[in-house]
Amino acid sequence: MERMFLVGEVEIYAIRDINLRIRKGEFVALMGPSGAGKSTTLNQLALLDRPTGGSLRILGKDVEKLTPKQQTAFRLNHLGFVFQNYNLLPQLTALENVLLPALMRGKNRRDAILEAKRLLEKFDMSNRLDNYPSQLSGGQQQKISIARALINKPSILFADEPTASLDSESSEVIMDLLRDLNKRDGQTIVLVSHESAHKKLVDRIIWVKDGVVVKKSYV
Ligand SMILES: Nc1ncnc2c1ncn2[C@@H]1O[C@H](COP(=O)(O)OP(=O)(O)OP(=O)(O)O)[C@@H](O)[C@H]1O
Ligand SMILES: [Mg+2]
Repeated sequence: MERMFLVGEVEIYAIRDINLRIRKGEFVALMGPSGAGKSTTLNQLALLDRPTGGSLRILGKDVEKLTPKQQTAFRLNHLGFVFQNYNLLPQLTALENVLLPALMRGKNRRDAILEAKRLLEKFDMSNRLDNYPSQLSGGQQQKISIARALINKPSILFADEPTASLDSESSEVIMDLLRDLNKRDGQTIVLVSHESAHKKLVDRIIWVKDGVVVKKSYV
């Protein structure tokens, strides 16, 4: 895969040559220095951006052949994304934030509410359903954001530095939660991380530098 950005007349290669294969049920971390191309890689994998070269297959499908509209539908049906800064909608409650992707997918409201409540209960957030994001701690907001990413039962969960805005205690809670999802439910997870403490939590680390994969290691 390749992703080049044209800035004025200058070509910037955020990804020069990223070649990788991620298996179902894996918990993989993309690691490497700042500016290495980790976020750009994750954005290509999660269909939030389009590569300028190469090919990408997700769940056996040549996704780069899909139209933008088809890609959006594919993302809604098969992929979940957790952002570093949670990206919750401030005017919606915790429950409503989690519900939204299910309603967008056409699920009936009652079933969507049941599923959202089940997830939030699993994450110890049952007593926070009606709170707005501004009334929640960073760790709590990130739990909401993970529940929102999971409500449509994605085949792959992507997370770009999901603990970077958190203190070490909340960070540990979130990483334990991700690990449980992977170990107990077999959730495939692709994580971008800076923190060396996360190395021991994942199955495999893909090291990226200057837009290329420099090493793949099992932990
Ligand atoms: N929209 C863009 N336009 C121009 N250059 C970009 C754009 N997005 C990313 N880049 C460049 O591509 C390179 C890789 O960026 P990326 O955000 O993927 O790095 P990263 O590994 O996630 O870094 P960090 O650890 O700091 O988040 C950087 O040099 C960045 O400046
Ligand atoms: Mg990044």
